Amino acid sequence: MARALDRLVGKTAIITGAAQGMGEAHARAFAAEGARVILTDVNGDGVRRLADELGENALGLSHDVGDPAGWDAVMVQAHDRFGPVNVLVNNAGIIGPVKGILDFSAEEFTEVFKVNELGVFLGMKAVLPDMIAAGGGSIVNISSIAGMLGTRASSNAAYCSTKFAVRGMSKLIAAQWGHAGIRVNSVHPGYILTPMMIAATDEEGGGAKEVIPLGRLAKPDEVTRVVLFLASDESSFVSGAEHVVDGAMIAG
Ligand SMILES: NC(=O)c1ccc[n+]([C@@H]2O[C@H](COP(=O)([O-])OP(=O)(O)OC[C@H]3O[C@@H](n4cnc5c(N)ncnc54)[C@H](O)[C@@H]3O)[C@@H](O)[C@H]2O)c1
Repeated sequence: MARALDRLVGKTAIITGAAQGMGEAHARAFAAEGARVILTDVNGDGVRRLADELGENALGLSHDVGDPAGWDAVMVQAHDRFGPVNVLVNNAGIIGPVKGILDFSAEEFTEVFKVNELGVFLGMKAVLPDMIAAGGGSIVNISSIAGMLGTRASSNAAYCSTKFAVRGMSKLIAAQWGHAGIRVNSVHPGYILTPMMIAATDEEGGGAKEVIPLGRLAKPDEVTRVVLFLASDESSFVSGAEHVVDGAMIAG
């Protein structure tokens, strides 16, 4: 990661799914750039450990993003510790089983929906009152290239549709709340070497790099730099847009 430049001083940010992978990379960079960070994850021990490491400007909380009451509890604890929240990174996500629609059950679909789509909806609902009261804020919703097109080899109907939904919701909320100074963007990573991807391929990304024009998978912090830009005031006129970070995978 590049040298920190205090780009997030004065920001209080919630990052979901921060115990590992890209969420962890975002958490480390946000803290280094001067943000106060609330790190949430179903892996509560993981985010508490990370928060301990990052110091007094970090708080780690057990949290299931698909649970409305869980968001209420996160907001109460965030307010108690740091005051109003002005940045949200809706990062938590799951793939679910990679298989065809004929073998995909309604229960499997619902599980993916709850984390990837309902979780993003609930997160935006939770932070919007703080942002409206403050006259602005930045929401960064992590979608996927699976939210740009049907990635048939590595996805499923639930993952693809929820990631498309994240892109659509981001545009709607950006359009509805722009007048209040609130910016909402979606980020669409391609193949990134996180525990999620390594579990599905290997440390090198298996054959995945063959379909990436840049010839390799990305490291998590290559996505973090885009998320950091969108969270910071450097992106003050950027809203309602898709930001693809995929080494040109879906370009041609
Ligand atoms: N790795 C990739 O190549 C890739 C590509 C495109 C998009 N994405 C998206 O990026 C985001 C981060 O992915 P990653 O690769 O770092 O994944 P990861 O599996 O390494 O980490 C995801 C984190 O989310 C947490 N989580 C899962 N369900 C949760 C829930 N209900 N509530 C709170 N936390 C929960 C997990 O415990 C884990 O710590 C996800 O939204 C994913 O869909 C990843």
